[in-house]
Amino acid sequence: MPYQTLLFDVRDGAAFITINRPEKLNALNDQVVDELADAAERVATEQPIRGAILTGSGTKAFVAGADIADLSKQGPFDGKARAQRGQAMLRRFETCGKPVIAAVNGYALGGGCELAMACHLRIASDAAKFGQPEVKLGIAPGYGGTQRLPRLVGKGNALHLILTGDMIDAREAHRIGLVNQVVPAADLMAAAEKTLRGILAMGPLAVRLALEAVDQGLEMTLEEGLLLEANHFGLLAATEDMKEGLTAFLEKRPPRFRGK
Ligand code: COA
Repeated sequence: MPYQTLLFDVRDGAAFITINRPEKLNALNDQVVDELADAAERVATEQPIRGAILTGSGTKAFVAGADIADLSKQGPFDGKARAQRGQAMLRRFETCGKPVIAAVNGYALGGGCELAMACHLRIASDAAKFGQPEVKLGIAPGYGGTQRLPRLVGKGNALHLILTGDMIDAREAHRIGLVNQVVPAADLMAAAEKTLRGILAMGPLAVRLALEAVDQGLEMTLEEGLLLEANHFGLLAATEDMKEGLTAFLEKRPPRFRGK
């Protein structure tokens, strides 16, 4: 699919996905959502892509939310369908089996905050701002905000953001656990790429199964989650990567993982 609203660039195994509607603060209209869904599918299925970084174009916004012009025309059934399309796109990034990092370069509001939360890690510029302002528009979060935000920052912090619609800055987002790291704006992409390259140097099968265990385990009882973890641990013992990782340690050399 040729993209009109995204830049999609693959360099040395890392996909750099930039939402590119800076004149509308990268708001998620239907076309952006469709193109992001295609991009997520590519990350999940294309073998040369081993991880991804998502960011927004321009200096002002990561994503300033779902496109309010689109929302203003919706009725109850297409509204629900829109929410489900957006949710499915976010879930595809979340379950793509490869590390996805949000490099939050500015406003991450509504659907922007929700998109960042579906990524596995969030690195924010010190100029970034976060919020779930939907209630100010008479709507509630529709792309997973009511579900992922409390899982990330706890019920109290989540309800504070969702009920007041207040924006918080990057430092406060870091304090409550919404972002993993805050860096100066000029260093954002380098910091995100450094983190991604670090993960890409690990055993890719181990990374994949760790992502899956955390994602699925959060919805399980402790007993079920521990069994899933033990099964993954056993499965990894059948891989060449495990042999390579342990042997490399004992031979005091860096491992060369092949994802096998
Ligand atoms: N949907 C559609 N268009 C949006 C948008 C959104 N979520 N957010 C910003 N834009 C558009 C504006 O309408 C404006 O377009 P225009 O120049 O054609 O009028 C352009 O992006 C620039 O935004 P502007 O509001 O002029 O910038 P600002 O610096 O004054 O304010 C914000 C920045 C982020 C505070 C403000 O744009 C805002 O509140 N956006 C909506 C945030 C929101 O409620 N998101 C959740 C949606 S569910």
